[in-house]
Amino acid sequence: MLKRGMAAVAALALASSGAAAQETVKIGLVLPMTGQQASTGKQIEAAVKLYQAQHGNMVAGKKIEVILKDDTTVPDVTKRLATELVTNDKVAFLAGFGITPSAMSTAPVATQAKVPEIVMAAGTSSITEASPFIARTSFTLAQSSVPMAEWAFKNGIKKVVTLVSDYGPGIDAEKSFSDKFKADGGTIVENLRIPMRSPDFSPVLQKVADAKPDALFVFVPSGTGAQFVKQFVERGLDKSGVKLIATGDVTDDDQLNGMGDAVVGVINAHNYSANHNSALNKSFVEGFKKANSGMRPNFMAVGGYDGMHLIYEALKKTNGDTDGTKLMTAIKGMAWESPRGPISIDPDTRDIVQNIYIRKVQKVDGELYNVEFDTIANVKDPVKAAKK
Ligand code: PHB
Repeated sequence: MLKRGMAAVAALALASSGAAAQETVKIGLVLPMTGQQASTGKQIEAAVKLYQAQHGNMVAGKKIEVILKDDTTVPDVTKRLATELVTNDKVAFLAGFGITPSAMSTAPVATQAKVPEIVMAAGTSSITEASPFIARTSFTLAQSSVPMAEWAFKNGIKKVVTLVSDYGPGIDAEKSFSDKFKADGGTIVENLRIPMRSPDFSPVLQKVADAKPDALFVFVPSGTGAQFVKQFVERGLDKSGVKLIATGDVTDDDQLNGMGDAVVGVINAHNYSANHNSALNKSFVEGFKKANSGMRPNFMAVGGYDGMHLIYEALKKTNGDTDGTKLMTAIKGMAWESPRGPISIDPDTRDIVQNIYIRKVQKVDGELYNVEFDTIANVKDPVKAAKK
């Protein structure tokens, strides 16, 4: 009797702890809070906090708890932290992922645990193919590089040198820009690459000066643009007649205002500008600045904000059920208005579909902004589209 009684108590304790655990839905947010991509971590953390401040922390009757971990911009650390979050904390979602290698290293963890991995920052096309549990709210480099190539050729640029960071997103940017530019009739004079870690632009900029192309097309990851521009100007390339064109990663809102007048007039293509003209974006920027001592949100912040929206809405759809397969079904095809404009998750690829804007760096009320002047609507990842 005593034995049975004890077993019953133990079973009850187990059940109630299980029930309590189910009342909280945990999100493991793995970000580079230190190391080379720390600006991405800072932007996304702020955006996640803003989303929760605006939308509360209860969804479908469950309390949402975000557990933030710093992967120090090291992919092996990302994987270890993600594994611990799944095993020990029993998170229902993995989210964040500041760089492609971090998103990739976590893919097997997501697949094995059947836990959705929401990529809020990284941009290599193939990431979403690494696990059926990955969905992306950031962008792909091909999404902005193809429209940039098209704009360049249409606007009289015939000879281009490309310069990219030598890893996943840079290689995607180089290839998608070059393929489109050549298909349109342009000439790629040279494809230059620089190391992702601690880049020194001097040797490659000398090559650009020697090649004298009509334009230099650049991709460097968020947070590195200012350093690139500084060396571009130091080498006198801003006055050499070589036009600078880029993905919007280079003229990143996080750093743009400090880049100086040398970047005024730079044409670039991207998914988000803090200057985007919509009521939703105005209130997003205002709320973000207010909560973060005037810091301007960049495209990484928007990826984080929309990633939280995706998680909240998926949980609403499953009525709080945290089964990973059900959550992925809820995620596929979801569409909503983001501060960047209308977006959706492609139900076939789980990748983001979004507008790409052609922008020109201009002074607005004394501050530098990417001012949008053309829109390519509902762009799917061109790399995956080409495979079909
Ligand atoms: C990436 O590592 O995928 C990445 C990082 C920063 C960017 C774009 C892509 O701005």
